[in-house]
Amino acid sequence: MSRYLVSKCICHDRDFEEIKEYAEQQGFTSVEELQSEKYCSCSCGLCIPYVEMMLKTGETEFEPGAFYKNTESK
Ligand code: FES
Repeated sequence: MSRYLVSKCICHDRDFEEIKEYAEQQGFTSVEELQSEKYCSCSCGLCIPYVEMMLKTGETEFEPGAFYKNTESK
C-alpha cells in the first residue's frame, strides 16, 4: 500500500471528508452538482474521478490511481 493517499481537492483546498459532508447536506450525488456551486473540482480536474468514487462508496481516502483498478475489474 502506498504511503500517500489522495484525500483532497488540492485546487479548492478541501478534503474529501469536507466535500462528502457538504454533498450530503445539499443532497448532491454528482460531481457536476458540486462544480455548479464551485465547491470543488473546477480547476485542474485531477480530483474528479476520486470525488466520483467518494460519492459512490463513501470512502474519503484513495490509493493514487484507485479509479483505474475499479474500472479494470468491470
Ligand atoms: S484537485 Fe480538484 S480541481 Fe484540481
